Amino acid sequence: MFQPYQFSIGGWCLVSEGSDPFGEPTRDLPVEVGLEGCAEAGIKFVSFHDRDLWDDDASEKKIEQKVEETLDLVKQYDLSVYNFTTNLFSNTCFRSGALSSPFPQVREAAIVKACRSMDVAALMGAKNMIFWGGREGSDGAYEQDTGLGLKRYIEGIKICVDYALEKGYDYIVTIETKVYEPRLLASYAGTGSSASSAIRKFFPDPKYNGRILINPEYPQHVAMLGLDPVFELGQLLEEDMLAPFIHFGGQIPARMDCDLPPGVGSSLTADFMICNLLHERNWDGIIEFDCRPMRTTTAAEGMKLFLKHSVGYWKMLEKKVNIYDNDPIISKIKAELTQTESAELKSVMSAVHKGTGVVKAVQALTKSFTSFEAISEINTDAIEAHIYRVLQILTGTYEEGASIFEGTRWSA
Ligand code: NOJ
Ligand code: MG
Repeated sequence: MFQPYQFSIGGWCLVSEGSDPFGEPTRDLPVEVGLEGCAEAGIKFVSFHDRDLWDDDASEKKIEQKVEETLDLVKQYDLSVYNFTTNLFSNTCFRSGALSSPFPQVREAAIVKACRSMDVAALMGAKNMIFWGGREGSDGAYEQDTGLGLKRYIEGIKICVDYALEKGYDYIVTIETKVYEPRLLASYAGTGSSASSAIRKFFPDPKYNGRILINPEYPQHVAMLGLDPVFELGQLLEEDMLAPFIHFGGQIPARMDCDLPPGVGSSLTADFMICNLLHERNWDGIIEFDCRPMRTTTAAEGMKLFLKHSVGYWKMLEKKVNIYDNDPIISKIKAELTQTESAELKSVMSAVHKGTGVVKAVQALTKSFTSFEAISEINTDAIEAHIYRVLQILTGTYEEGASIFEGTRWSA
């Protein structure tokens, strides 16, 4: 049964003021407008950074009071807190990095702040605690051995994970990957794949299994590199490293992090493939919007429209996934792209999985092999047919578009 995903949003998106490095804020909307808009749009969850709610030097009493107020406020709109995240990037003390800074005093500050946030995450009932290492990298000044910087960063997170485990908190800790910006050159463990490998290296004990995962932000943090997020997503799913949520928004490829409304500037086909792969893999998670209305949007009505658009865009993708799943032309194309393997190839794979008998199995495969010339003759046209059909589905032209398949082997 097709299970549509639920939605969450960063509270910081609801109060974003539309400023950019060159221009002043263009809107000043109270958080209530956004929360009301969430309720109207069907967004059920909201997430916060510590610094969205109190100053970094706030007293324990102030923090407790703010936690209570926030939970009350969120409840008034029938929402709940989904994620909590510690802001280790805005305070000027973190200009040289936070958990990874070459300066031990700064690392101490980061640990104190992050562990305080671990306690708050539990108080708030957050399901996940996010670590986005915005400042954990370099502007090109090469402040330290980059391997040591990675170690400091991930071991800093490990302190927090151990702190939470010892305290009995049951939420998941996630690393949100982004290769650069605001650091100008690079961040440690900045891609889904590099963070995944760092987690394996630094968290080998089985007690960490499933406790520290990766939350990517698609398409923004991958498309800003000019890459297609669906390839990273496939790896994270295959390696069981994907968090139970992804951040989602819009991005012009190969630009700074735009955080545009979903679909704006992005590749519709890439967004569709993300949605499709998550459903195909029966991923059980939440879509958390981490994006903002455009700078040209200034009024409450525009903020609410942005929220409805965000939800509507994802629902449109899911509708297309449904059409795709039930399309007879797609099913013929897919049958060609998912053919059963020969007995010989199956034996090779099972030997690899067993860890023995590979040589024998490859010898049998070689014996049954025809020739490279014969293999060159197989028909691979289904790949191009696949993308044509996806384009027809996405543009809503699949009914009339079916005619171009007439007379082909994929005709319905
Ligand atoms: C960058 C990351 O995408 C996000 O998750 C982070 O917390 C926010 N932007 C902060 O504004
Ligand atoms: Mg994000």
